[in-house]
Amino acid sequence: MFQQFLKTSRARVERALDIWLPATTQDDTQLISAMRYSACGGGKRVRAVLAYASAEAFGFDNEDALDAIAASLECVHAYSLIHDDLPSMDDDDLRRGKPSCHIAFGEAIAILAGDALQTRAFEILTSPELDIAPELKVRLVQELANASGASGMVIGQAIDLTATNRTLTQPQLERMHLCKTGALISAAVRMGAIVAGANDEQLANLSRYAQTVGLAFQVQDDVLDVTTETSVLGKPKGADAALNKPTFVSLLGLEAAQSFAKELHNQALNSLSSFDYRADHLRNLSGYIVNRSN
Ligand code: IPE
Ligand code: IPE
Ligand code: MG
Ligand code: MG
Ligand code: MG
Repeated sequence: MFQQFLKTSRARVERALDIWLPATTQDDTQLISAMRYSACGGGKRVRAVLAYASAEAFGFDNEDALDAIAASLECVHAYSLIHDDLPSMDDDDLRRGKPSCHIAFGEAIAILAGDALQTRAFEILTSPELDIAPELKVRLVQELANASGASGMVIGQAIDLTATNRTLTQPQLERMHLCKTGALISAAVRMGAIVAGANDEQLANLSRYAQTVGLAFQVQDDVLDVTTETSVLGKPKGADAALNKPTFVSLLGLEAAQSFAKELHNQALNSLSSFDYRADHLRNLSGYIVNRSN
């Protein structure tokens, strides 16, 4: 049942992205092609799936609203990956099993495709066609903007880059991971809940779940960097060690990093204790995140 949910959710966001990022024959600059190249047809879609699962915990099923939220999250995520792979950042040539955006389209168009994917996310959320109350749209925009910018993903990336070749303490490393990866994952869970009408207490519990899962997601990403082959990962194995990045594996060692991820999974489950069976997909997603192999 969970596998089916994953499959259906992925297909839904794929369709939504195809609609919100329409192909065009008039693309002299290749900008639209680069946006579609990076956002469509790939990735695990974890942020999208988390938003669907979070709304499902409330029995909410406005499909258009959820598809738009899912697409907006994946646009911001795709932008973050394009920029993360640039020569001035992680300098990675492979992403989702194919050449990184800047390898395929050149650096300038890759930067611009990232920029345009980011703003497209907010065009999607504020689209007049969407049947979401205006005050809720504002809240959704605020969630995504906070998670993406200087108090979320971008500051996390800045910490990551300045921490290269340095040793961080565990609290410092946790903060970096919570920002660079946890923030957008938290936004995914919170946006699904907000549109579904969650109250403050429910939102607080889901935020605890999401922070824990977000941290676990990046811990597992660090683990996979050393344990998993490039062909399975779809991105270069060993990229972190090659750049001397501080990771949970470099700080704690492989086994302790793996146990930490499992511990976070248990904590995530505890945060959901007041939710009924409708939160089972969220529970399963936490397990999926720490057991995944790519
Ligand atoms: C990779 O994210 C970057 C991190 C935040 C660790 P994902 O592992 O979700 O990448 P895709 O979307 O599945 O390719
Ligand atoms: C990237 O973290 C997090 C982002 C905000 C994109 P990583 O640099 O570890 O992601 P990968 O391993 O390249 O996917
Ligand atoms: Mg990086
Ligand atoms: Mg990277
Ligand atoms: Mg990584």
